[in-house]
Amino acid sequence: ADALEQISRDLIDSYDEELELEFEDREFDADGQLIGHDDKAARRAYFQELFRLQGELVKLQDWVQNTGERVVILFEGRDAAGKGGVIKRITQRLNPRVARVAALPAPNDRERTQWYFQRYVAHLPAAGEMVLFDRSWYNRAGVERVMGFCTNEQYEEFFRSVPEFERMLVRSGIRLIKYWFSITDDEQHNRFLARIHDPLKQWKLSPMDLESRRRWEEYTRAKEIMLDRTHIPEAPWWVVQAVDKKKARLNCIHHLLGQMPYAEVEHPPIALPQRERHPDYLRQPV
Ligand code: ADP
Ligand code: AMP
Ligand code: MLT
Repeated sequence: ADALEQISRDLIDSYDEELELEFEDREFDADGQLIGHDDKAARRAYFQELFRLQGELVKLQDWVQNTGERVVILFEGRDAAGKGGVIKRITQRLNPRVARVAALPAPNDRERTQWYFQRYVAHLPAAGEMVLFDRSWYNRAGVERVMGFCTNEQYEEFFRSVPEFERMLVRSGIRLIKYWFSITDDEQHNRFLARIHDPLKQWKLSPMDLESRRRWEEYTRAKEIMLDRTHIPEAPWWVVQAVDKKKARLNCIHHLLGQMPYAEVEHPPIALPQRERHPDYLRQPV
């Protein structure tokens, strides 16, 4: 009975923690009014499936650690596509030393002079690690192309390099998975509005994001070229339909687990040791 109570307390804690994250999903209409949220049954179904998948992710983590696998998962998509949200749910219950996030800022002056892939290479996993790239080397084919941060030359060289680069990673034994989060024009518009109205979200809205609204069409073209030229058998793109945030998260995590031949690692049962007793100095509270 004690064990059951503990499990139910743990579940409630998990639920609270998830509700806090859910707070970020609040949506506002154009007048700044909160719009309705999912009904109870839908939320319950979402949480149930999320917790189940997060349990599987823990098994995956255990397997990665035990087998010394190296995993790279990269998340691309337009601004506000929900990459950050799924990355949070994936890492939420994992060990940050096993599952790390790499979200690199714009390159500094020194990095600009380096081999383009160099600063990303520094974040690749060692044995027993998973690295989740929140944006990646694909910046060159997206934001850098559209905003003019790279030359045509650099852009073309990127497409010559990237399949070679990724094949090298895969041949070295890294498991490389690439996701494109896909949202519609209207959905991006609404999410940016939400960021404008919500003080907790305003930090997410960068000048780059605003410009990306104006350049929606150019981004579409850049995305098509990118997916077309970098979709290779060794490292295919997987497109996640992301207008429905919750479905997108569940689908993506479910798909990710399906890509990994993980198996549950057997551990001997754990018993808590009795603490040592030092009657003399533990008698008084300190
Ligand atoms: P975020 O997507 O994290 O909100 P931004 O919208 O500001 O960040 O920028 C989008 C992407 O563009 C980031 O990955 C950033 O590193 C990249 N970026 C921004 N400015 C530059 C620049 N001058 N040169 C190259 N990349 C840049
Ligand atoms: P319920 O479980 O539907 O009775 O909701 C419990 C509390 O959570 C209520 O105060 C709701 O307003 C709030 N709530 C329900 N859904 C969400 C959501 N998606 N995001 C934030 N708060 C919510
Ligand atoms: C997302 O929602 O896709 C990420 O948070 C990136 C962004 O800020 O646009």
